[in-house]
Amino acid sequence: MTIEFNERLQKLPPYLFIEIDRKKRKLQESGVDVIDFGIGDPDTPTPDFVISAMQEAVARPEYHRYPLGRGKSFFRQACALWFKKRFGVILNPDKEIVALIGSKEGIGHLPFAFLNQNEVTLAPEPGYPVYANATILAGGDPFFLPLKEINGFLPDLSAIPAPVLKKARLLFLNYPNNPTGAAAPDSFWKEAISFCDKYGIILASDAAYSEVYYGKKSKSIFQFPGGKEVGIEFHSLSKTFNMTGWRVGFACGHEKVLSGLATVKENLDSGVFEAIQAAGSAALAAPEGFTEGLRRMYRRRMETLVSGLNKLGISCCVPAGTFYLWVKTPEGENSTQFSTRLLEKFGIITTPGCGFGPSGDGYVRFSITLDESRIKEALSRLSKT
Ligand SMILES: Cc1ncc(COP(=O)(O)O)c(C=O)c1O
Repeated sequence: MTIEFNERLQKLPPYLFIEIDRKKRKLQESGVDVIDFGIGDPDTPTPDFVISAMQEAVARPEYHRYPLGRGKSFFRQACALWFKKRFGVILNPDKEIVALIGSKEGIGHLPFAFLNQNEVTLAPEPGYPVYANATILAGGDPFFLPLKEINGFLPDLSAIPAPVLKKARLLFLNYPNNPTGAAAPDSFWKEAISFCDKYGIILASDAAYSEVYYGKKSKSIFQFPGGKEVGIEFHSLSKTFNMTGWRVGFACGHEKVLSGLATVKENLDSGVFEAIQAAGSAALAAPEGFTEGLRRMYRRRMETLVSGLNKLGISCCVPAGTFYLWVKTPEGENSTQFSTRLLEKFGIITTPGCGFGPSGDGYVRFSITLDESRIKEALSRLSKT
């Protein structure tokens, strides 16, 4: 029997990090001490107060059953309290918050609720691949919005052709931005909200890195007038509390948008393990000091890497947030060539920018989720060219 994947699955590019991981393993097997600036996965552990909350919660039989629904009321209340404290925005925990099995899950399910066949998602490129790939899996078409350095890595919404606008249902935006590290100014958020309102497009703001900022605090779209009328925002506990493996986050915002997402989820998953929701609630109630400590650590690492690369004549886009550094390739090399040279000559893994979209060519992404001593070791290897 021949088994064929459906056309939608066949349209997907290979998942970026699987290929990089394969190369890493091969090098490690041949004895190379690989320094991994590849995937963005925090290297420091989940804090003790979250582990303790989990240990206590996991022993409670009432948390062992199907979670179902939009998440435990205590978890949604913890999200609402965190939101109020952090952004000064009031959310209704019953109608305006849904627990997610990591924000990726919610981002991936959203197009299934709002796209009909061949309708369009506006997706930034370079960008997190899930916006476009989930769109394809849902039978829609991504339309890519280039993020150019000259525009501060913001998309030019006025350049979207009218026939595309007619079919567009979703606009994904992500600031602080993976992979460029850019932030969005207030003027852009206001523009995006009125653009979505004008064309009847849902604004899906991916705020996975909202707590990893270096200068000004990042904002929620709900801090701007009209944000809640057009938008949904995805929040993640992964990067904020070193909890990538736990799979917990939440979506919030427009009531109808959330109910569409919740309906898709009811049919495809059974929610977040309730003990994890208890641990997540403890994380969200943590004093600001924990995330401030994380930001200090990433800032130190970032400064070491940026100044070291600059000394070697390699220029970088200094990030406003995230733990990614968007590094320009040297003259005459494209992003795959530079990334391959870093890997084969120096045992340094980076992600070629073109993997995030064609406008990412000319850059490679360094993730600083590794100890400062390893960053220094990488710089020392690079200085011995
Ligand atoms: C831009 C962006 N959004 C969302 C996610 C998903 O995070 P999680 O599913 O762990 O909440 C990631 C993970 O790397 C990301 O980079």
